Amino acid sequence: MAQIVVISGTDTEVGKTFVGAALGRAFAERGYKTVAIKPVESGRVGEVTDEEDGRILAMGTLQEQPTEALQRLKAPLAPPDAADLEKVKLEFGRWIGVIRGYARTCDIVLVEGAGGLLSPLTWKETALSMAQKLDAKVVLVASDKLGTLNHTMLSMQVLEANDVPLAAVVFSAPSESDRSTGRNATALARFTNFERIAAVPGMKSWEMAAPLMEKVIDWIVE
Ligand SMILES: Nc1ncnc2c1ncn2[C@@H]1O[C@H](COP(=O)(O)OP(=O)(O)OP(=O)(O)O)[C@@H](O)[C@H]1O
Ligand SMILES: [Mg+2]
Repeated sequence: MAQIVVISGTDTEVGKTFVGAALGRAFAERGYKTVAIKPVESGRVGEVTDEEDGRILAMGTLQEQPTEALQRLKAPLAPPDAADLEKVKLEFGRWIGVIRGYARTCDIVLVEGAGGLLSPLTWKETALSMAQKLDAKVVLVASDKLGTLNHTMLSMQVLEANDVPLAAVVFSAPSESDRSTGRNATALARFTNFERIAAVPGMKSWEMAAPLMEKVIDWIVE
């Protein structure tokens, strides 16, 4: 049975896919049979492109399937809102079934949420409740910029209050850095005594970040 890891975050656009693809590649290179899944992706119309999370995650692990999100929605909105506009049903139960199916044949299953930890995946479920249902650990991705300590500690407290294990916090470089960029990991460790914190600087591609994921792997599999 695989270890399931939900790649969640403090917000949308914080680097979940960037970190998830790098982590998937690092796991695959270490010899773990790894699958990375995006259950639901909004703002996607027509042919699947290489810009999509579901596709980028698959390029990370080099998996054959799946190569796109399990459900794609047209409107760039929270999934339940986008689904209502399209009059389609979100198949949360199917997503869980597919993820558990891969967990039976793999070593590691990475699952990227949509938005942040409490962002709705359906009108009932969030990344947090999905992690609970899957008995998953969470890797919390946060943007390495000013304000992130508040968002990160709020998320850490919600995880703790709900008994969901936090494997690691990963700060990923924002598109525009500020004076806090590169300092948030140390500040968070100092304030919380939580030690499993990694930082990914600005890089040309997620492939380059894969070697930085070694300790994150250790924290997940320990
Ligand atoms: N360390 C980094 N170096 C360079 N670019 C990065 C880094 N981290 C993230 N990015 C870029 O920032 C943008 C947002 O990252 P990403 O798509 O991974 O966020 P996300 O949290 O998955 O967003 P969403 O909520 O839409 O799924 C992307 O263009 C990504 O390539
Ligand atoms: Mg993403």
